[in-house]
Amino acid sequence: MDLGFHGDLEVGSGLVDLAVNVRRAPMPPWLAEPIAASLADLAAYPDPAPATAAVAARHARPAGEVLLTAGAAQGFVLLAQALRGARRAVVVHPQFTEPEAALRQAGHEVTRVVLPEASGFALDPALVPDDADLVFVGNPTNPTSVLHPAEAVAALARPGRVLVVDEAFADTTGEVESLAERRDLPGLVVVRSLTKTWGLAGLRIGYLLGPADLLARLAAVQPLWAVATPALAAAAACASPVAVAAEREIAAALAADRDHLVAALRDVPGVRVEGRPASSFVLVRISGGGRVRQALRDLGYAVRRGDTFPGLGADWLRIAVRDTAVTDGFVSALRKTMEA
Ligand SMILES: Cc1ncc(COP(=O)(O)O)c(C=O)c1O
Repeated sequence: MDLGFHGDLEVGSGLVDLAVNVRRAPMPPWLAEPIAASLADLAAYPDPAPATAAVAARHARPAGEVLLTAGAAQGFVLLAQALRGARRAVVVHPQFTEPEAALRQAGHEVTRVVLPEASGFALDPALVPDDADLVFVGNPTNPTSVLHPAEAVAALARPGRVLVVDEAFADTTGEVESLAERRDLPGLVVVRSLTKTWGLAGLRIGYLLGPADLLARLAAVQPLWAVATPALAAAAACASPVAVAAEREIAAALAADRDHLVAALRDVPGVRVEGRPASSFVLVRISGGGRVRQALRDLGYAVRRGDTFPGLGADWLRIAVRDTAVTDGFVSALRKTMEA
C-alpha cells in the first residue's frame, strides 16, 4: 500500500480536479496584501513571534502553546521524530496517510486501529489499546468526511499518552467538534493547516497547539527558520477575527454545495454515500470503483482513489465538493460511466 500517494498525483492533463481538497478561490485582500507586502522583507531571516502571538490569541492560548510549521505535514514529522521514545504508536484509520508514513520513517512500529465500515467509520475510543502512548486521529477525517464528537476524541486523552488530533479540515465544519481550545486534556496536540480553505498548499503553513513543554521538544527537532516570511504573514492574517468570520461563511457555503453533491450522488444507482459527510470531500462506495475511476478520467474528471488508505479498497473513491455547476457536470459523467 502506497502511503505516499496523494490526491495531487491524480490531477493533470486538463482533467477537472475533484481529487485535491484545496479550495480554489481568489485570495481576499486581507490575505493577499500582507503576503505581498512580506516580499519586501525577504532579506531578513523570518521572525515567527508576531504570527505565533496572533495564532495564540485566536485559540485563547499562551504563545508557548503554539508552534508554527511548514504545513501540517511538517507537524507529523516533528512529532514522529521528537517522540521516538514512544513504546506504542497507534494510528486510527482510515485517515490521511502521512502520520503513519512519518512514524515509520522515524523508526516507529505502528499499530493500526481500523474503524469498521459497518459503524460508518465512527470513532470508538475503546478500540484504541490502553498501552498506546502516542495516538493519531483525524477530525473531521480525511478521507471518510466523518466528524467525530469532540467528547469521543477527548476520551482518548490520558496522562502518559500524547494524543494527536489532525484538525486540518476543522474550519470546513465551523469548528463544532474542535479541541483546539481545550487546554485541560493531558498530552493533547492539535494539528492545524491553513493550506486547504485558504488555497495555500504551495506556501506551506500550518501549526501545532499543545502543552508548552511538549511543543518545546518538537521545536527542538524543527529545522531553523522552517516557516518562511510570506507563510508567517499568512498565518497572522488567517488568525484575525475577519479571517475566522470568513471561514464560517465559507463553511456555510460549502455545506450547501456538499448537500447538492450528496443528493446528486445518492440519486445515481450503484453509488453509496454513508452517513452525513461533514467536510470538503465525500467518500463513495461503488462496486468496480477502479474501472469507474478510470472511465471518469477518460471523460475528463479526476477523483481520488481509495485503495491507498488502510481500511478502504478499490471500490472507494473520494470526491471533492465543488460548486454546483462542476458537480452537475461530474455527476452526469458518473452516470454515464455507471451505465456503460
Ligand atoms: C487530513 C490532512 N491533514 C494534513 C494534511 C497536510 O496539510 P498541509 O498542506 O498543511 O501540510 C492533509 C493534506 O492533504 C490532510 O488531508
